[in-house]
Amino acid sequence: MPRGGEAKIAIIGGTGFEEVLEGAREIRVGTPYGFPPKLIVGEVSGREVVLLARHGPGHEFPPHKVNYRANIWALKALGVERILATNAVGAINLDIKPGDIVIPHDIIDFTRSRDQTFYEGPEVVHIDVTEPFCPELRSVLVEVARSKHPRVHDKGVIACTEGPRFETPAEIRALRVLGADLVGMTISPEAFLARELEMCYASICFVSNMAAGVQDRLTATEVLEMASKLREVVRAILVEAIPRIPEERNCPCSRALEGARI
Ligand code: HPA
Repeated sequence: MPRGGEAKIAIIGGTGFEEVLEGAREIRVGTPYGFPPKLIVGEVSGREVVLLARHGPGHEFPPHKVNYRANIWALKALGVERILATNAVGAINLDIKPGDIVIPHDIIDFTRSRDQTFYEGPEVVHIDVTEPFCPELRSVLVEVARSKHPRVHDKGVIACTEGPRFETPAEIRALRVLGADLVGMTISPEAFLARELEMCYASICFVSNMAAGVQDRLTATEVLEMASKLREVVRAILVEAIPRIPEERNCPCSRALEGARI
């Protein structure tokens, strides 16, 4: 497992969050899985924070081509213990609307072509994901989000599809029957890889659209438009959440490998 010490908190998300960092500087980190996009390290309220744009600085990696292992490994190598992710999602649950913010609590994984683990053998590891998102980070995000935005859902099941196409209406009906509230393309394997390296991970999901078949038609343009509309509030949530994250971890994430090895 890599170790380092530049930053303890990471933000994974779109571009446009650089302004929140004081003294920002770019760094490149190599990993056994290749290079992640450039990382930006700086400070938020006196805490060292590293920023990673998962789709690349020019949004050149589609969700199924993001090098999730390189990204998560590089953050671990820098000493990151906590990851705050931002994810665009469509709403399956009709009580959730475009413009809402959801702090999800569980995942249904429907990806199929992505490298899902750091443990390809001979070391075999089965991590527990009974609680796939860090409870400590989630409670900070829920509290702060509620103080910044009128429509916040404190839990939700997010289904992750392979993409890059949007879903069919029948797929969305199936996901609803299975219990999904939201659908996106990037939470898996990101959240699971973080757990494999004993990092805390939680997500701020912003709802850009109703899922396929609920609204007329889906466009990538509306996803981008909602991302830019909500960028300011997501940024405000991050800036206020970071200093409220306890210095010491009191969650099970840091012990994820205990009893997980065969
Ligand atoms: N489906 C999958 N991913 C998404 C969606 C969606 O409707 N909206 C934003 N990301």
